[in-house]
Amino acid sequence: MKRIAILTSGGDAPGLNACIRAIVRSGYYYGLEVLGVKRGFKGLIENDFFTLSTRDVSGIIDKGGTIILTSRENRFSEFKYRKIAYENLRKLDIDGLFVVGGNGSLEGAYLLSAEFDIPIIFIPKTIDNDVFGTDYTIGFDTAVNTVVDAISKIRDTSYSHERIFIVEVMGRKSGFIALASGIASGSDLTLIPEYPFPMYLIEESIEKAFLKGKKNFIIVLAEGVAYAKDLRNTLLERLSKKEINISEIKYSVLGYIQRGGSPSAFDRILATKFGVFAVKQFLAGHKNIMVSFEKGDLNIKQLKDVHNRIKKPNIEDFDINNIVNFV
Ligand code: F6P
Repeated sequence: MKRIAILTSGGDAPGLNACIRAIVRSGYYYGLEVLGVKRGFKGLIENDFFTLSTRDVSGIIDKGGTIILTSRENRFSEFKYRKIAYENLRKLDIDGLFVVGGNGSLEGAYLLSAEFDIPIIFIPKTIDNDVFGTDYTIGFDTAVNTVVDAISKIRDTSYSHERIFIVEVMGRKSGFIALASGIASGSDLTLIPEYPFPMYLIEESIEKAFLKGKKNFIIVLAEGVAYAKDLRNTLLERLSKKEINISEIKYSVLGYIQRGGSPSAFDRILATKFGVFAVKQFLAGHKNIMVSFEKGDLNIKQLKDVHNRIKKPNIEDFDINNIVNFV
């Protein structure tokens, strides 16, 4: 009987549990024994393995977070700790390691696969959606829905008090969450790091809108561009010199509410498909791969081709958002 081990690594994302469930259930379905590793790469280094049964994953498809815990383990960037991790995997006769993670974990998984003889199957998850080689990562859709819901609420206040609002969203250095949320919420301006807007254009778009009679305005700001507080202060100062009557500029930093919560149907389905597909690829003899979802199809990519790469939102989506906000 072959043995596989699963770990979740990096920031939690809605849909991780659905993915764990899918790997465990399909693993046993195909005659594998499945172990869990606690706290991601930390558990690999500290030899924290445990058996995961099909019953252990009952009732978790709708739960946020990860039942096997996660961490950001800096030690994994050092060879000596990756060696310890490999030795622990060998001691337990693990035939394949399933890593569910984002970009940092992808780098760790790639290094481990390049240096040691342990087959790795990587499954992309991160609310940021910034993993190269896949259109979607587990957790992104739920995070966008959370942001859109929050903006709908903020819009009520923005309209009623005739205020400008800046809503800061997560994404680290990428603007996927901001752009998708900006489009879906019909916000007036979306600022993302990949396609920067100079300050004078930000001012100009608010000025134009107010001159045409608009009295409220919502800006979605990706955290990779600036802090909402700083942007607010700059805008207040600059707009006060214009011939328009703006009342107040408020900001909301949505923060960790974007990481938690019950996964959307899309994320549950994606996570389940990724999990089962990943097990099938392992059984077919593929190793050191990432499973991906591109143009509606499941696919595999070599880790060496996807690690350390940058993924950008489509410029077309950015244009669409600007076009529909032309007032
Ligand atoms: O990568 C997911 C993410 O939530 C980013 O959007 C954010 O910048 C970062 O993690 C926060 O990291 P931490 O959980 O370490 O505070």
